[in-house]
Amino acid sequence: VEARVCIVGFGHVGRHLARLLLEQEQALRAQFDLAVRVTGVASRRMGFQTDPGGLDLAALLADRWELRHGFSSDRVASWLEEARATALIELSSLDPHTGEPATTHLRAALRTGCHGITANKGPLVHAYDDLAGLARASGVAFRFEAATCDCVPVYSLFREALPLARLTGFRGLVNNTTSVILETIERGGTFAQGVVEAQSRGVAESDPSHDVDGFDSTVKLLAIARVLMGVPLRLEDVERVGIRELDPDVVVRAARGGTPMRLVASLARDGGVVRARVAPTALAAHDPFARLDAMALALHFETDILPGLTLVGHGLDARSTAYGVLCDLVNVARGR
Ligand SMILES: NC(=O)c1ccc[n+]([C@@H]2O[C@H](COP(=O)([O-])OP(=O)(O)OC[C@H]3O[C@@H](n4cnc5c(N)ncnc54)[C@H](OP(=O)(O)O)[C@@H]3O)[C@@H](O)[C@H]2O)c1
Repeated sequence: VEARVCIVGFGHVGRHLARLLLEQEQALRAQFDLAVRVTGVASRRMGFQTDPGGLDLAALLADRWELRHGFSSDRVASWLEEARATALIELSSLDPHTGEPATTHLRAALRTGCHGITANKGPLVHAYDDLAGLARASGVAFRFEAATCDCVPVYSLFREALPLARLTGFRGLVNNTTSVILETIERGGTFAQGVVEAQSRGVAESDPSHDVDGFDSTVKLLAIARVLMGVPLRLEDVERVGIRELDPDVVVRAARGGTPMRLVASLARDGGVVRARVAPTALAAHDPFARLDAMALALHFETDILPGLTLVGHGLDARSTAYGVLCDLVNVARGR
């Protein structure tokens, strides 16, 4: 089988994906008889790089490319055609308020009969129904496993391993930056030192407000509610409290008492409605989340059939996100 892939966005995740494709080339052939050819890579800076015969990924990773065609979201459909792509991998930056331009790029792919794969949460929150409907109508797949928790399997878990199970509740530690900051404060450090620590571990942006104010966790929660509960919540439907205003003494005392404070994201069915909340919470001493390393991501699912299931991912980073994207690509290419 040959997959011809176009990638929009060649930042941390896009570059890790390119490296993984080079590293795993033999394994993909040996295990799945799959040859992945990257026939297009695009970003605002790179414009459209296209070669239906396959681009040289090592050269792109070494920043050896020439700008021939400037990038424009309107031209993604014709680019996919020119690159003879069978799948678009969308890895441009997140705009949590609009889900654009990723949604426009994915729409162009799904309409023209390409599979659409993304690590971007925006399209899930703003256009999930539309994109899933387009994929069904075109007989292709729309996949987004890496959008919520890097490569921790969330959506494929429910789709493949747990058919019929209805998600009734969710609780998660889905943001490392806030866990690292709180852990730093527990050890006697300041909030600002916690931010620096999170940046040095590669989990926080130079402006960490999205993480600190609970916005990142909120968008992840919306994606899970939309896809796994079928509930289209909006950003303003989530009760959101960040960790900025937390009193350091409270954080230190909670940790000493064995009930550490962490930013918990949760969904609960309450009659006909789903309540969504992101807030600093003291974890009970017997809570398995209470003993986790700050770099872990944890998700606990409650379903109508299976009462409880917890997943914990350790040591995740942009490479793990790229691996989640690669998993989507492999599964789509082999018809899963
Ligand atoms: N890093 C992670 O661990 C992680 C985890 C989960 C999900 N994600 C998601 O994965 C996506 C990529 O993340 P990243 O860390 O790789 O980001 P990044 O390093 O900032 O790279 C973003 C890429 O997108 C391109 N881009 C930005 N705006 C664009 C636009 N309007 N049109 C076309 N290209 C555009 C940028 O290049 P130009 O500036 O040249 O356009 C750059 O190549 C994001 O949606 C992010 O939320 C990341």
